[in-house]
Amino acid sequence: MKTNLIETWSSLSTEEDTMTADHTWIWCEMIDAINETNLSDVDVLDFGCNQGGFLRLLHDLRPFRSGVGVDIARRPVAIAETLKGNRPISYRATTDLSNLGTTFDLAFSHEVIYLIEDLYAHARQMAAVLKPGGSYYAVTCCHRDSPLWAMWRARIEEFSNVPVPNHCIADIAGAFRKAGFVVSARRFVANAFVPLGEPSDYFPTDADRLETYSRWKLMFRFEATG
Ligand SMILES: C[S@@+](CC[C@H](N)C(=O)[O-])C[C@H]1O[C@@H](n2cnc3c(N)ncnc32)[C@H](O)[C@@H]1O
Repeated sequence: MKTNLIETWSSLSTEEDTMTADHTWIWCEMIDAINETNLSDVDVLDFGCNQGGFLRLLHDLRPFRSGVGVDIARRPVAIAETLKGNRPISYRATTDLSNLGTTFDLAFSHEVIYLIEDLYAHARQMAAVLKPGGSYYAVTCCHRDSPLWAMWRARIEEFSNVPVPNHCIADIAGAFRKAGFVVSARRFVANAFVPLGEPSDYFPTDADRLETYSRWKLMFRFEATG
């Protein structure tokens, strides 16, 4: 699956630079939620890594053997490379996973799957790079079943340098089942404290924040069978 690379995902100067701070509590929840605890002999992929913060955090909390972060956008990947320190991580600007030369026990994506036009092609590409029994955790609240999505989609379309499809939960689950994965999902936060704040473009009220994170943000688990 090859798509042309871009320089940045967002045409807004601040959007990508604030994502690490905004997403750190969410990445902590993702890491807490996974079934796998000891990652010392695990190879990890982060699909749509942007500036690489998820893998840095994962390695700091649960050290893994090796990690690869890929993204369609060149600039955030270059920034990720400068921030990785001595961690065993490489960041690559590519959408073609077949040339990474490695396979993975675990893969993640956070708020990327909603930007993938052809979900079945994405599912097949992930099946090809996961080891048998490996799992891909994909997290998103950007789907048609969520009441705020229509408003968010219109906003994201204004700055996204890639098209913004309009998938529903069943589209995502169906594409991965068709590609041979065992598909399950959980609501994202059940008991965690959700940071509240002033009204924003994404969350008109704190009630919207709570509803979105506890009801509409989902963590899919796609388990590779063969
Ligand atoms: C909303 S950002 C999320 C970034 C990061 N995962 C996080 O949690 O902060 C979406 C990311 O997906 C990347 N992306 C979009 N389409 C992609 C594709 N087809 N292949 C790889 N990355 C893609 C964008 O460049 C952007 O970095």
